[in-house]
Amino acid sequence: MCGIVGIVGQTPVAPLIVDALKRLEYRGYDSAGVATIENGELARRRAEGKLVNLERRLKNEPLDGMIGIGHTRWATHGVPNETNAHPHFSNGVAIVHNGIIENFAELRQELKGDGYEFTSQTDTEVVAHLIARELARGVKPVEAAHVALKRLNGAFALAIMFASDDNLIVGARNGPPLAIGHGEGEMFLGSDAIALAPFTNSVTYLEDGDWAVVRRDEFQVYDIDGKPVERQRRQSVGSSYLVDKGNHRHFMEKEIHEQPEVISHTLAHYLDFTQGTSKPLDLPFNFADIDRLAFSACGTAYLAGLVGKYWFERHARLPVDIDVASEFRYREMPISKKSAAFFVSQSGETADTLASLRYCRKEGVPIGAIVNVRESTIARESDVTLPTLAGPEIGVASTKAFTCQLSVLAALTIRAASQRGTITADEEQALVRSLSETPRYAAQVLKLDKQIEKVARDLSHYKHVLYLGRDTSFPLAMEGALKLKEISYIHAEGYAAGELKHGPIALIDENMPVIVIAPHDRIFEKTVSNMQEVAARGGKIILITDRKGAAQATVDTMETIILPDVPEFIAPIIYALPIQMLAYFTAVFMGTDVDQPRNLAKSVTVE
Ligand code: M6R
Repeated sequence: MCGIVGIVGQTPVAPLIVDALKRLEYRGYDSAGVATIENGELARRRAEGKLVNLERRLKNEPLDGMIGIGHTRWATHGVPNETNAHPHFSNGVAIVHNGIIENFAELRQELKGDGYEFTSQTDTEVVAHLIARELARGVKPVEAAHVALKRLNGAFALAIMFASDDNLIVGARNGPPLAIGHGEGEMFLGSDAIALAPFTNSVTYLEDGDWAVVRRDEFQVYDIDGKPVERQRRQSVGSSYLVDKGNHRHFMEKEIHEQPEVISHTLAHYLDFTQGTSKPLDLPFNFADIDRLAFSACGTAYLAGLVGKYWFERHARLPVDIDVASEFRYREMPISKKSAAFFVSQSGETADTLASLRYCRKEGVPIGAIVNVRESTIARESDVTLPTLAGPEIGVASTKAFTCQLSVLAALTIRAASQRGTITADEEQALVRSLSETPRYAAQVLKLDKQIEKVARDLSHYKHVLYLGRDTSFPLAMEGALKLKEISYIHAEGYAAGELKHGPIALIDENMPVIVIAPHDRIFEKTVSNMQEVAARGGKIILITDRKGAAQATVDTMETIILPDVPEFIAPIIYALPIQMLAYFTAVFMGTDVDQPRNLAKSVTVE
């Protein structure tokens, strides 16, 4: 989950590396560092905490050197301090690493036995020493790196630099992504194409097991056995995006406000609004020929998939098995040959989701990826990519990616239902029409910001919050709780409202507000009964509903947020907005770091 960069350039590279690291800071922000080669010697600057600290350091103590590597860290092994910050050095070898070296303890013992001293608590330092040991044995740099790579178990993207050669970086990938960027007389390495965007949009992605020798005017990719392999050079589409907060205080706020537009783009990609139909998709199967779907994802993307399960089962009469990817990948689930699997991921790099995909690949079922980063590993390893057109999402808390994932899943449900004949042409038109209104309703919800901000001010005084919902509002309840806990650090839980009396009701008192997500739908009255149970125990209710729901709620609430009356099918997309806004404003009142909350990273490339 760290971000890595390497540049073999023609001008001093340290400022360029910092610029690239800024675009990778979403991957981790516990510490950062840069190393270059100055007059045949390795030189480095490292700083604990955010990248601004490193920038400050470099301002006072600049680095020269036209070749360099850089790192922004999400700590796995060793506390986030300067000593554990990358790059790590060993006798003329410098290294930056994203991932986990699983056999580091054993290698550490072995290297200590050979007299190597460890200055950090990281797993990464073993790699620097392993390579240095080969150099000391007289092995040339490239071969020394190759020998060391063969000793590593685990997940890694690495950039390795040698004091003895200022025209060489060795990159390696096993798990986390690594892209090589092609310039004119200069070359780049980065964890993703966005990092390299200021320099080039011509990139080559390494595949698992690949390693590459990168010099100013040439590069060569090898497989783990050292055989040269060809990898496609692509034009990166992500490169053109500007990563900028605009007039907003935080990326999260900007991304919440972008939703009417990006939902509209995403829906237009999949639906023909004039005809009132779903557009044909290039799927390697027909939904009429399959009898089951498997979904897997993590975090917010998982909760989008859970909403999708309700939609697919209800409208397309297609059962969906869904699990969080960290469980899916290990539970050896039997997968019917008449099924298809879909993986949902904003980044397209989440390690557990990727592993689940690979499990399904082995099972031989067709695979679809619902991803925001089109060039990501998950997209590249799928049979078909169904993009969310959310644009880059920078805030760690996922907002617009979630509603775009829901938009794709809704459109896909219509496609499946139409192919399976479980909806009529008129019903298809009605569903497409209701989706076409989503951007307009989303824009209306954004105008409730003053009321939601006021509720958030109250909420920020509590230590625990419970979210309740039924049907598609149940995943939303969990999403609301996830959003609130990750950015405000208030403890929050999301429950199916019907489960309340099976345990969580014991928690209800005046110190635990209960946020009820309840559009006036078929089962609204059931949720009202649950609200009565909360009210009877002195619980404070914040109800998110529509006009009809507000009129029929029959309980006193601490606050009722009234959303536009929307068709039931699109309610999960619309109701996502107030829960995002509530979490956002609460975090702002609490004064937390909204875009880069503690302990988290945007892209989780380790399991
Ligand atoms: O990139 P992905 O969509 O695969 O990421 C999955 C989760 O890590 C992500 O949704 C996470 O839960 C967010 N921080 C939630 O806001």
